Amino acid sequence: MAGNIKLMVCDNADSVAKEAAKVFSALISDRPEAVIGLATGSTPENTYAELARMHKEEGLSFAKVTSFNLDEYWGLDGDHDQSYRYFMRTNLFDKVDIRPWNTFVLNGKAQFPAIECEAYEQKIVSMGGVDLWLLGIGGNGHIAFNEPGSPVDSRTRLVSLTQETIDANSDGRFFKDASEVPRCALSTGIGTIREARGLVLLATGAKKADAIAAAVNGPFTPDVPASLLQDHPDCTFIVDKDAASKL
Ligand code: GLP
Repeated sequence: MAGNIKLMVCDNADSVAKEAAKVFSALISDRPEAVIGLATGSTPENTYAELARMHKEEGLSFAKVTSFNLDEYWGLDGDHDQSYRYFMRTNLFDKVDIRPWNTFVLNGKAQFPAIECEAYEQKIVSMGGVDLWLLGIGGNGHIAFNEPGSPVDSRTRLVSLTQETIDANSDGRFFKDASEVPRCALSTGIGTIREARGLVLLATGAKKADAIAAAVNGPFTPDVPASLLQDHPDCTFIVDKDAASKL
């Protein structure tokens, strides 16, 4: 069942980034104080580059925007060059006028993870919830670091990474060696993500084709975490032809 998921298939990864950036810039232009959710990984890098270009050349302003990120490696300081806080600074935050104090990323070095996670959930609620959350997808269908088996009502918490995810993130793009990848992460839950008013999931490349097909056309099941978005009222997948090839 495809549920409510809206699908946009683009010619290539570049068009995926441009379409995704358009959706976010439209929201921010319409609602300058928007609360946005952000993702890390290779896939959204070009979207952030496009948003940075729109800021520089077209005056798109993030001055009143608040952002929440999906997840953070457990044990990494925000200054570590593989932390997601560092990723966001270098790919987006330092290139636009978003105020650093309005950017929320889970603290991978928090002394008490349960308290950190609960405070993060409360912060999202206190900001009125997330208007639009950008997502990627793992080859195994994970969203954020919600690995297969994560319940539909899961909340922000400390999670273990699967070997597949550890390997995927140590293929030379990020960590050089699997031994360097943290085994755990703090991740927003599927329940947390589903509460966003809008969701935009990006996928590019043939490596994501199975996960996209299972998420869109397969059963609604924790075995494929992204399939748990099928009943969301406003969820769009923006994918390139390769990622759409098994639909
Ligand atoms: C990582 C992140 C996810 C991301 C996914 C895909 O493990 N925690 O949020 O969506 O993997 O990443 P990539 O875009 O690099 O394929």
